[in-house]
Amino acid sequence: DTTESSSLRTPIVAVLGHVDHGKTTLLDKIRGSAVTEGEAGAITQHIGSTAVPLSVIGEMAGDLVDPEDFDLPGLLFIDTPGHHSFSTLRSRGGALADIAIVVVDVTDGFQPQTEEALDILRRTQTPFIVAANKVDTIPGWNPTDDQPIQASKERQPDRVQSDLDERLYELIGQLSDEGFSADFYWRVQNFQNNIGVVPLSAMTGEGVPDLLTVLMGLSQRYLKEEMAVDVTGPGAGTVLEVTDERGFGTTIDAVVYDGTIRADDQLVVGGLEEPIVTEVRALLQPRPLAEIRTEKEFEKVDSVAAAAGVKIAAPDLDDAMAGAPVRVVRDRPVEEVIAEVEAELAEVEVQTAEEGIVVKADTLGSLEAISSTLEDEEIPIMRAEVGDVAPRDIRVAETANEPTHRAILAFGVDILEDTAALAEQEDVRLFENDVIYQLVEEYDDHVTAIEE
Ligand code: GTP
Ligand code: MG
Repeated sequence: DTTESSSLRTPIVAVLGHVDHGKTTLLDKIRGSAVTEGEAGAITQHIGSTAVPLSVIGEMAGDLVDPEDFDLPGLLFIDTPGHHSFSTLRSRGGALADIAIVVVDVTDGFQPQTEEALDILRRTQTPFIVAANKVDTIPGWNPTDDQPIQASKERQPDRVQSDLDERLYELIGQLSDEGFSADFYWRVQNFQNNIGVVPLSAMTGEGVPDLLTVLMGLSQRYLKEEMAVDVTGPGAGTVLEVTDERGFGTTIDAVVYDGTIRADDQLVVGGLEEPIVTEVRALLQPRPLAEIRTEKEFEKVDSVAAAAGVKIAAPDLDDAMAGAPVRVVRDRPVEEVIAEVEAELAEVEVQTAEEGIVVKADTLGSLEAISSTLEDEEIPIMRAEVGDVAPRDIRVAETANEPTHRAILAFGVDILEDTAALAEQEDVRLFENDVIYQLVEEYDDHVTAIEE
């Protein structure tokens, strides 16, 4: 039913996991297989994401999927580099991603960023599956490229099969420790109550058909109603990154999760100080693969409809904030849209107290995640802001009465010049870590040391 399918938006799939566990390789594999299938043209590379249409997923999943059973247009995969906080992936009312893949290296097992990913998925109630990656590294493994995993597994010698099973049970146990009931995906009846674990190799492609099948099935079953949105209305999105682009000045990389952004739209973007009102100068996408060697890196497009990643060039974006909302004004009074953006930012605003610690983070999403962790531990916050740690933050921190509160927790930001020296002088402790719970743990240890 094409009328129906055209009204469903593409689900957004975030690919999360610890550094080097294979997120990018997995997406490369999906793109590469599409090229092999002669479908290269069908895959669109977006800023920060890759759109894979249903027809291509059907091809890659082979016998596992019957495209007739589905009417979602496809999937939009967002890669999240390990050094980057994926807590940026927020949107109005919670998670930007509709669904997630947590990639775990079967040899390396759970690592700090795996746990952080699970914390965030739990908090935002995002459905997810686990990709137990790099099965080909199990000693004695005989690869069969791009095949469904069960068949491939059955072809392995017994001891290789039991080695794999052991590692998978270990993962399932760790998930259970984290409060998630999980099982081999082929045993899961209800993916809403159980996390499916899909063994695969992003390198050889074994198990990738299974992963795509489970993702499509999950989205189709549980997200269909949410996906029935009008994608022609004024666009809404989230800033992923603020970057300087030669020839364009400061630009924002955004994911549009609702409506459409056009090249002549007026926008309101969440800023460090106040909402920024600006006009689109250009909407940019990477050049198609075939043209990658041309001089210009980007191609201008007239519009982008949800869900999509896009680079937006516009004046006055210097103060734009990663994790903040982007809204198209179009036929509405601009004040109304500014109020909307302010309301959304207020929602994120952290509960602050007269007395407490200072938190600085790289994005609104990470600020939100750290603050909620601190709240759970009943650690009060005096100030929470997006931005680098500057001398004025020390000035704020030093006003705390409790010695344990003379502290700044910094996540994914720089400590500006002279700030560390000033902190030392004023007896303010600086904590830096790129993993949220480790950051909070370091602070906890410090408090324990003081109290003893
Ligand atoms: P960050 O973006 O830095 O967080 O890493 P990532 O999760 O994107 O990992 P990436 O895809 O860059 O893979 C890290 C390394 O693992 C690379 O050398 C890959 O070739 C390798 N790798 C990824 N998947 C597999 C796999 O299934 N099998 C094997 N043997 N190697 C893999
Ligand atoms: Mg990567």
